[in-house]
Amino acid sequence: MSTSKIDAACAGTFAFDDDMVVNRLGFGMMQLTGPGFYGPYPEPDDAEALVRQAAVWGVNFFDTADSYGPWYATQYLTLGLQGLADTSNIFVSDKIGFKREGPDEWVVNGKPERLRQRFLESLDKQGRDSADLVFLHRIDPHYAMSAQLGVFADLKKEGKIKHIGVSQANLQQLKGAMAFTQIDAVQNLYNVGRHAREDDLLKFCEQQHIAFVPWFPLGGKGLALADNPDIKAVAAAHDATPAQVMIAWLLQRSPVILPIPGTTSEQHLKQNIMAAQIKLSDAEMEQLNGVEKKIGR
Ligand SMILES: NC(=O)c1ccc[n+]([C@@H]2O[C@H](COP(=O)([O-])OP(=O)(O)OC[C@H]3O[C@@H](n4cnc5c(N)ncnc54)[C@H](OP(=O)(O)O)[C@@H]3O)[C@@H](O)[C@H]2O)c1
Repeated sequence: MSTSKIDAACAGTFAFDDDMVVNRLGFGMMQLTGPGFYGPYPEPDDAEALVRQAAVWGVNFFDTADSYGPWYATQYLTLGLQGLADTSNIFVSDKIGFKREGPDEWVVNGKPERLRQRFLESLDKQGRDSADLVFLHRIDPHYAMSAQLGVFADLKKEGKIKHIGVSQANLQQLKGAMAFTQIDAVQNLYNVGRHAREDDLLKFCEQQHIAFVPWFPLGGKGLALADNPDIKAVAAAHDATPAQVMIAWLLQRSPVILPIPGTTSEQHLKQNIMAAQIKLSDAEMEQLNGVEKKIGR
């Protein structure tokens, strides 16, 4: 890449409302935990420093969850942000609805009383009076969706939540949720190698001005798509890395997409932010749009 500017603002912005305008290149906290996303990150000071560095480079949308660690990711995020002179323009996206029972073990738990208790605990751990955005991490089939979202809707009425989101919801569920309360964001699995099944939902989000926050924007740990020949070819043409091309594709795919790549590396963080400056041609977008079909997903 020819340019050397490191600024997440180059990704453009998404406005949740007048008071919450975020740069479209955010940061996902899940990698900053122990093995299997359980327990503490081995170098907590580095995790906090990475959060600070991201903010210095213009990232103002950080995604966490009570289940990351559990709590450790939120703790590093909170401590990292405390090291900054001004956090008035920094926004946190939280998620509640999983219970962790060990490394790589994720148990959906949407019991309404627990959702409320975990949310309040999260707020307390962050030292905040209200949350910018909270997702129901999963819709638990054991409870009515309205009972689960009802917890968040009540908390919004109490002034403790500003925006509500749903994660891994299909279009029908999203519409059902919207009939019950205002939904401002969806967080679903979406990347250059896996997107077709979400494209109708994405279109709907565009029409409704709902933020679409893709998780596994790089395909998750291991970066399996980095060896894909189409992605590599586009990357070579821009003197960029495959990860950067995957981020550039997401940013150009839709103005409501807000990628939150996760990393433990300052070098990768820098590359991810600089990816916002890559301008893919229509032909390159077409080529990348076709990756999923070619790999047969
Ligand atoms: N709603 C949900 O259910 C859900 C589920 C999963 C994740 N999430 C959220 O989505 C965020 C992103 O997902 P994710 O972190 O799991 O996966 P991801 O962002 O798709 O990929 C993370 C992996 O990519 C590597 N990476 C990052 N930048 C790179 C670069 N420039 N070059 C090469 N490798 C790079 C990281 O390794 P290094 O550490 O070596 O950079 C890490 O192994 C999470 O942090 C979390 O906040 C939400």
